[in-house]
Amino acid sequence: MKKAIYPGSFDPITNGHLDIIERSSKIFDKLVVAIANNSEKKTLFEPNEREEIINLSINHLDNVEVKIFNGLLIDFAKQEKLNIIVRGLRVLSDFEYEFKMALMNRNLDDEITTLFMMAHEKYTHISSSLIKEVLSHGGNIDDYIPNSVIEKIKIKINENKEK
Ligand code: PNS
Repeated sequence: MKKAIYPGSFDPITNGHLDIIERSSKIFDKLVVAIANNSEKKTLFEPNEREEIINLSINHLDNVEVKIFNGLLIDFAKQEKLNIIVRGLRVLSDFEYEFKMALMNRNLDDEITTLFMMAHEKYTHISSSLIKEVLSHGGNIDDYIPNSVIEKIKIKINENKEK
């Protein structure tokens, strides 16, 4: 059984992420979308909110599961017996960060391999941060986040603005 892990912050999930999830779900028998509960990174959505939003976005995919992890990705991957890490690449500027992370993870555990997948060209210019910024100023991002979760994300951004 071919299994892989797709880790990230997913704060929140975008259509770029969903594109990588859908492509990976066709290649692997099982895909675990792993949400990093990284206390160093300030996130808008709590891990359980991100989990709920991703679950609502992947209803149509039978072989995808969502999990939250703490600590090192490599430790979680080992614990889950997953030795392929999938990461999406959008633009050249992603490469340096991804390259370092992949090599660090490989040095931490040589049995674990990172595979890169090109994001769909429709989504190469988007990121969770940009979406949050545009939304917080009232811009339209409906093409960039999964339909099933647009309202949930908008509500959260508006709540946050009122704080
Ligand atoms: O979506 P992101 O924020 O680009 O994802 C980055 C993520 C979560 C994959 C990375 O920060 C990570 O793996 N964090 C867990 C802690 C860890 O293992 N750090 C060392 C990476 S070499």
